Amino acid sequence: MMKTNVAEILKNEALILQEVILKGWVRTFRSNRFIALNDGSTIKNIQCVIDFENTSDETIKRINTGAAISVKGTIVESQGRGQSVEVQVTEIEILGDSNPDEYPIQPKKHSFEFLRENAHLRMRTNTFSAVMRVRSKLSFAVHQYFQERDFNYVNTPIITGSDAEGAGEMFRVTTFKDNEAPLTEDGKIDYSKDFFGKETNLTVSGQLEAETFAMSLGKAYTFGPTFRAENSNTTRHLAEFWMIEPEVAFMDLDGNMDLAEDFIKYVLNYILEHCKDDLAFLDQRLTQEEKSKPQAQRSEMSLLEKLKFVVDNNFKRVTYTEAIDILRNSKPNKKKKFQFPINEWGADLQSEHERFLVEKHFKCPVILFDYPANIKAFYMRLNDDGKTVRAMDVLFPGIGEIVGGSQREERYNVLAEKMKALDIPEEELWWYLDLRKFGTAVHSGFGLGFERLVQFATGMSNIRDVIPFPRTPQNAEF
Ligand code: 4AD
Ligand code: MG
Repeated sequence: MMKTNVAEILKNEALILQEVILKGWVRTFRSNRFIALNDGSTIKNIQCVIDFENTSDETIKRINTGAAISVKGTIVESQGRGQSVEVQVTEIEILGDSNPDEYPIQPKKHSFEFLRENAHLRMRTNTFSAVMRVRSKLSFAVHQYFQERDFNYVNTPIITGSDAEGAGEMFRVTTFKDNEAPLTEDGKIDYSKDFFGKETNLTVSGQLEAETFAMSLGKAYTFGPTFRAENSNTTRHLAEFWMIEPEVAFMDLDGNMDLAEDFIKYVLNYILEHCKDDLAFLDQRLTQEEKSKPQAQRSEMSLLEKLKFVVDNNFKRVTYTEAIDILRNSKPNKKKKFQFPINEWGADLQSEHERFLVEKHFKCPVILFDYPANIKAFYMRLNDDGKTVRAMDVLFPGIGEIVGGSQREERYNVLAEKMKALDIPEEELWWYLDLRKFGTAVHSGFGLGFERLVQFATGMSNIRDVIPFPRTPQNAEF
């Protein structure tokens, strides 16, 4: 007797006529005979045909949607349409009942809003099980890509004492109890008496610490949670998200762009090869969803076409200055359709601009680089023009910014001066400056928002639907 799973059975013809034990959850039960069983190993259900005569009424009554069951039976070629094989059940055991009047995940279409409120059970639906399997495979591909290229996986701290990145509002970490925080003479909270003896927060990025690894082990990457307390309720922002941050010594911005492009293509290719059933389902799902949109808003490509397009085509590389010219002369700008009109060089790009460039103008992924220094972080390398920095953002259709990175400022004096100008205390980042004091070298890296990648890979339009338990303003259930 073989304990197996549905994925194994469907791909292994040798299992036909074998006796197996399967455990999973009932998706549907019809005609008192046919159970559609799903065990999570694949998007596909397997039909289990029970021997009605020899199964007690008591048991039949308990075969409800959502119940956990164990079946023993023989794999046979299916008589019915819609499946190649099925299980002829000889024994069935109800492992865990599911009250049909209470179980929220009925075999019908539920809205994503409803399913978010039932996030603990939504992985029992086709859409969310597919998304989460793809997410898992993507994680693996991330590690495989970097490990095959001798990058070192580094775990950077989650609690940090500096807000050097300036990437947004942070979440305070403290052990002070309500109203019991000691105060300084001028009435402020005295963090010198707190757990770490200083003010601490959840990190917005592992980059600065990852740089210490690039400047010692040569090639490093992080893949961990990051936190931003921005109050932005969009379909692309989470308060807790996962970021992948490679950092490489002796690599300049061109190398950084090559790395980002190659990396993204590799991981998307990986899921095209390893998640065929799930992607086929998600492709169909998106096509259905698109049909409910007005013609003008529909995507020209299906999910699979989009993935293949990105894998097969070069990303377009454009300077910020070129992009501003394109935007300034664009139709929506002239017709005042942008919420933030583009008038002058130096303007920060909003997502409406990024999406125009990618979706309307270039119609492919775009890498924008050489941004104005004053709209980017302090650590980016200053160009010889004195006003732009070696920054790069990778922009994706439907997503906007998926990657942000740069060549780092490796010159001690230039960096120290920049920090002074921006009031970034040297005491906070003395160790970061030390990297420029002892054996400095050209180095670069980037950060890719993992959930935005999963969004692109699965065609899910809301970032809350690609992370198991989303953390967003006013929401930390589960
Ligand atoms: O552009 P960001 O802020 O860059 C950094 O944090 C750098 N330290 C990265 C580096 O050079 N090592 O963030 C990087 C990426 C963005 O491009 C986006 O994909 C994602 O992180 N991201 C978010 N994803 C979900 N929710 C949010 N609130 C995000 N903020 C940024
Ligand atoms: Mg950015």
